[in-house]
Amino acid sequence: MSPRSIPFLLLASVLPALAQPARPLVVAHRGSSAYLPEHTLVAKAHAHALGADFIEQDIVLTKDDVPVVLHDLYLDAVTDVARRFPGRARPDGRHYVLDFTLAEIRQLEVRERMNLRTGEAQYPARYPTAAAPAGLRIPTLEEELALLQALNRSTGRVAGIYPEIKAPRWHRDQGRDPSRVVLPILARFGYADKQAPCFLQCFEWEEVRRLRGELGWKGRLVQLIGGSGPGADGIDYDWLVSDAGLKAVAGVAEGIGPALGRVVSWPAAGAPAQVTDLVARARAVGLAVHPYTVRRDDLPKHCPDLPTLHAALFDQARVDGVFSDFPDLSLAHVRR
Ligand code: G3P
Ligand code: CA
Repeated sequence: MSPRSIPFLLLASVLPALAQPARPLVVAHRGSSAYLPEHTLVAKAHAHALGADFIEQDIVLTKDDVPVVLHDLYLDAVTDVARRFPGRARPDGRHYVLDFTLAEIRQLEVRERMNLRTGEAQYPARYPTAAAPAGLRIPTLEEELALLQALNRSTGRVAGIYPEIKAPRWHRDQGRDPSRVVLPILARFGYADKQAPCFLQCFEWEEVRRLRGELGWKGRLVQLIGGSGPGADGIDYDWLVSDAGLKAVAGVAEGIGPALGRVVSWPAAGAPAQVTDLVARARAVGLAVHPYTVRRDDLPKHCPDLPTLHAALFDQARVDGVFSDFPDLSLAHVRR
């Protein structure tokens, strides 16, 4: 039996449930990022143990073209790169993943996210920034997929993956092409068709179309939609959520991942949630809706608490899934 066939056998037993979810899906956003430094393998193993339906990977390329799992294009907010590699910043003061080999990146200690403007922890109540180094590293995409598939097998429960191609236009401006590097890896791990437990996501509309067209991606695709302003490829997200835009998205993708504010909002303190018609209009053209990001410690403006946010998303807006930093709490709501 080939290594690939083992996860396939396991996947076959749960695919019907993933294809037709009886309840909304919970995507562990950057792993169990409320509890452990984001995108570390321990955060991914913990998310798996918490029961997350899908686990997210943000993907950027190293200098030697290795896809690693990291949210930012630069290393400064979550590692000790400035101390370990003095003099390697670009003129903007940031140390870019693209300027470091994998061997160099493996030397970095990952810690809880820091707000680079204030120098303080982004989320002060989370994993302590002053904790002793725990040997946490930036994983490669392949290392993470191997870990998750091993956990799928050893636990008998399949968690899907939710990879995001980060900033493809920026990478291509630097002469690099993350999508071309990532797609063969996803295929090798058995994720390259619509039955596989995988949603490939991107903020750039031109890249979503390219993935489906020029690059021939046959798996599920999700178009991410920012809360305001144009995307990095110049796309007008307000147009993308219009009926015409949604129809265009439905021609190439299976879902949208809008910012929370495009689905629910609270006009004032004490006011009830206001739900937009985006979910209904997206569903009318066959698109699933997976908004981002549920955070108990960073709620939408005027939203009083996490149960209220969950109720608005799941019970009022009736979304198909959410990205959550607190997958256990979001799962508790959808399992009621
Ligand atoms: O990909 C969904 C959500 O993660 C988008 O926001 O910035 O956390 O990648 P970001
Ligand atoms: Ca993401």
